[in-house]
Amino acid sequence: MQFIDLQQQYRLHQAEIDGRMRRVLDHGQFIMGPEIAELEALLAAYVGIKHAITVASGTDSLEIALRALDVGPGDEVITVPFTWISSAEVIGLVGAKPVFVDITPGDFNINVNLIAAAITPRTKVIMPVSLFGQMPDYARINALAAKHGLTVIEDGAQSFGATQGGRKSCAVTKVSSTSFFPAKPLGCYGDGGALFTSDDALNEKMRAIRTHGGLKRHHHPYLGMNGRFDTLQAAVLLAKLPHFPGEVAARERIGARYTELLRSVCAAPEVMPGNTHVYAQYTLRTPHRDQLGEKLKAQGIPTAVYYPKCLHEQPVYAPLGYAWGAFPESEKASREVISLPMHPWLTEAEQDKVVAAVKAALA
Ligand SMILES: Cc1ncc(COP(=O)(O)O)c(C=O)c1O
Repeated sequence: MQFIDLQQQYRLHQAEIDGRMRRVLDHGQFIMGPEIAELEALLAAYVGIKHAITVASGTDSLEIALRALDVGPGDEVITVPFTWISSAEVIGLVGAKPVFVDITPGDFNINVNLIAAAITPRTKVIMPVSLFGQMPDYARINALAAKHGLTVIEDGAQSFGATQGGRKSCAVTKVSSTSFFPAKPLGCYGDGGALFTSDDALNEKMRAIRTHGGLKRHHHPYLGMNGRFDTLQAAVLLAKLPHFPGEVAARERIGARYTELLRSVCAAPEVMPGNTHVYAQYTLRTPHRDQLGEKLKAQGIPTAVYYPKCLHEQPVYAPLGYAWGAFPESEKASREVISLPMHPWLTEAEQDKVVAAVKAALA
């Protein structure tokens, strides 16, 4: 059994993927070839927003968003301590300070009630993460940000395809970002990511920063980077994108079935009202997660722990001065979470095997 079965997806769509990649090899425009603009138009249409900008990785896309908003030394950016390190890393890379806000236990997302207390005169951006595949309450976050004159960036690396109130992830904040890392809901065959906005000026600036700070050759108004998405990877996504809505539906169905079968023995992930969940990870929690992982491994069932440590426990963030106990829900989650095999091609028989093994282990 695979934790995420990318080979199965390749087998299913091999002719389209190979065909799309071969066209790039034939035309030879490996940097910013025509597939980039074609994909960006389709991504924007899928999300339901004006502009999509493909980027070399999800991490680069977050950094570009912060640079475009002129976030830098002296500024603070609010995010969560229970996430992949990129969410905070990029804040440091632009010279600003990450300020952490704890999560709520049911959905592992930012506790919106705690954000106001973390806002200071130096706060410039709120950058929540839509963790594991569902979004925090962006209506409330956007309203709070508007009240304090702040910008919201959705880190939607794990939630591409999810919805809130019928609107797609990456369409609900001023700027948003996703990742096309292979294991993500929409993954390519290498690194990749995208930015989304409906703001024309921000779109232009983020496009410029992505390509060495300028849109015209040999003219560089901004400090930029080499953040372009590979044309070959765009070809992979052009082949995969038509199948993505079906995969999202399968993810929802499989996630809901796990929850139905497991909620009596452990804390299954909660889908918050108004949300759909794409289960980039199907993450449950139990105080016995290490034993559970061992027992499943013995039966050939792979599991993973995202994330065994909070960011304030990482040595790189020691200078921020957060003590153990500062974020009790994040800390508890990091000691209790475990993710089960999850992908759109997981069969009911495989799922039943996982469920039986989890039940036996936790009995
Ligand atoms: C929450 C979150 N933010 C940002 C990223 C960064 O994406 P990438 O790996 O494409 O740089 C990831 C993925 O790894 C992630 O899970």
